[in-house]
Amino acid sequence: TASALSLIAIDGPSGVGKSTTARRVASRLGWQYLDTGAMYRTAALAVHRAGLDLADRAGLERLLAGLDLAQEGTRIFLAGEDVSEAIRSQDVTRGVTPVSADARVREVLVEQQRRIGASGRWVVDGRDIGTVVFPTACCKIFLTASPEARARRRLLELEAKGQSPVFAEVLADQRRRDEADSTRAVAPLRPAEDATTLDSSDLTLDEVVDWIVARHQAHP
Ligand code: DC
Repeated sequence: TASALSLIAIDGPSGVGKSTTARRVASRLGWQYLDTGAMYRTAALAVHRAGLDLADRAGLERLLAGLDLAQEGTRIFLAGEDVSEAIRSQDVTRGVTPVSADARVREVLVEQQRRIGASGRWVVDGRDIGTVVFPTACCKIFLTASPEARARRRLLELEAKGQSPVFAEVLADQRRRDEADSTRAVAPLRPAEDATTLDSSDLTLDEVVDWIVARHQAHP
């Protein structure tokens, strides 16, 4: 429709490969890519560094008012500092759940996301992109994979970083995050009514990217 944004929304649970997929889709189409998970992670890092308790609402307001996030290519900046590695630490991965469940944090970040996505062509990944942030996106994909397939991929990622993860722990951590993301009161993870669900359990990354690009070209 005339009002549809040139924006591909890719939502789904953690560990399903959304960011790699979204980045590749964007590069294939010559569009820009926005990683909203990185924004929540950076906000969580800022909260952690400030030693802020989320119950301190005045403190949170001050922090949000001064929150300076930027994304350039694959790098994420907090007040000019490159925090791309820092936001992937275990501490941030655990600490981001309460921060991303905070209604006020979401309000501020969603507003920034809408401002960014309003001009140009974007591939945006997250949990609530098709449902809340950009309900008029031209193309909505809900990417899933079995818990085991996602945990296996995550295990390989951690091993590639030189860590020695235990499969059962990775799976349990993931289950906790799935549960938190899907049951929270504000913007829980769920497919938009007009989203197309793609189960990537038995697909390669290239197959997923090809599928989304083809789906977009069939319904631009
Ligand atoms: O996709 P990710 O693992 O980098 O996301 C980090 C956290 O942020 C995760 O707990 C889910 C949350 N998130 C969210 O609530 N809404 C989004 N649009 C993106 C991520």
